[in-house]
Amino acid sequence: MSTGKPKLLFLILIYLTNTTASAQPDFRSYVCGDSGNYTTNSTYQTNLKTTLSTLNTTNSGFGFFNLSIGQGDNRVHSAALCQGDMDPDLCLSCLHDSIIKLPQVCPYKKEAVGYYGRCMLKYSNVEVIGNMLMEGSGILVNIQTASDTDRFVGALDALMNKLKADAAAGDSLLKFATGNTTGSDFETIYGLVQCTPDLSETQCTDCVEDAYSEYLSSGSRGKVGGTVFKPVCRYSYDIQRFYNGSTMVIPAPPPPPILQATPPVLSTQPLNCNRVTY
Ligand SMILES: *[C@@H]1O[C@H](CO)[C@@H](O)[C@H](O)[C@H]1NC(C)=O
Ligand SMILES: *[C@@H]1O[C@H](CO)[C@@H](O)[C@H](O)[C@H]1NC(C)=O
Ligand SMILES: *[C@@H]1O[C@H](CO)[C@@H](O)[C@H](O)[C@H]1NC(C)=O
Ligand SMILES: *[C@@H]1O[C@H](CO)[C@@H](O)[C@H](O)[C@H]1NC(C)=O
Ligand SMILES: *[C@@H]1O[C@H](CO)[C@@H](O)[C@H](O)[C@H]1NC(C)=O
Ligand SMILES: *[C@@H]1O[C@H](CO)[C@@H](O)[C@H](O)[C@H]1NC(C)=O
Repeated sequence: MSTGKPKLLFLILIYLTNTTASAQPDFRSYVCGDSGNYTTNSTYQTNLKTTLSTLNTTNSGFGFFNLSIGQGDNRVHSAALCQGDMDPDLCLSCLHDSIIKLPQVCPYKKEAVGYYGRCMLKYSNVEVIGNMLMEGSGILVNIQTASDTDRFVGALDALMNKLKADAAAGDSLLKFATGNTTGSDFETIYGLVQCTPDLSETQCTDCVEDAYSEYLSSGSRGKVGGTVFKPVCRYSYDIQRFYNGSTMVIPAPPPPPILQATPPVLSTQPLNCNRVTY
């Protein structure tokens, strides 16, 4: 796996600093890429605006969106992914907020990725479809540690390995799997794995394994919940249910995760999760 560029692994403690600027909730995490800057009124900026304002019309039918616009160096590639069980209207609304928010938090960056809990938006001057190399992970960790760590991790790993295989075996429209198992104190562990549907089975597996490695590298083994967001996949688990699955239960927001304080941390304020609606 590649954590070779730690400067790109921005784990961001999100906090409300400018309530008047926008109605969009803050991202759980975002990463501004280093593939270059655009300038005001440039062709790249125009293409980016056009791409983002049209992206919501490209729904594959299962919450995946992709659109590229422009020529040569000014070509902008974008894609978005909603959690596989997300209500379509909520998905569009999450995408809408992402489209406003991401250029705000990464001004003049040609490449960026932003993560709400249940939707992700990315754009780049490099092709994003089938691209495993785009950088930008976000890690959220529930600070609570399981009582019998080894047993918990054993059960968790078995669950997540199954979900990884199930998600990777998905088709070209949806690579998404959820499930549960019993952890150390007879509590239920809920897991979710999703890849962007443009990935092959092998690419999906590789991405989830990379995500898991990054999670372990962050020192979070044995915590009762955690999420790794990557531009092409996501690895999540918790002892509280945070997804609908196929069962369409009452919608519940993800439990408040606590971001691991791994440098560079841009703020030391506590995470205000109650504002996050996705
Ligand atoms: C982009 O802008 C940043 C400052 O916002 C600067 O540090 C960086 O060198 C610029 N990158 C390029 C490729 O020009
Ligand atoms: C960008 O375009 C707008 C409208 O054409 C103009 O008012 C503004 O001065 C331009 N800004 C720059 C930095 O060129
Ligand atoms: C897509 O976004 C545009 C611009 O925000 C908006 O006018 C339009 O209603 C959206 N379409 C859908 C399907 O959400
Ligand atoms: C769960 O599914 C129901 C029915 O489709 C939907 O109304 C609800 O918004 C979904 N919850 C989430 C978190 O997407
Ligand atoms: C766990 O998943 C099974 C399906 O595999 C489901 O029937 C059951 O309701 C789930 N348990 C909980 C506590 O959500
Ligand atoms: C991306 O968009 C193109 C053009 O609409 C479409 O043909 C392709 O199937 C999309 N890719 C995925 C993985 O949905």
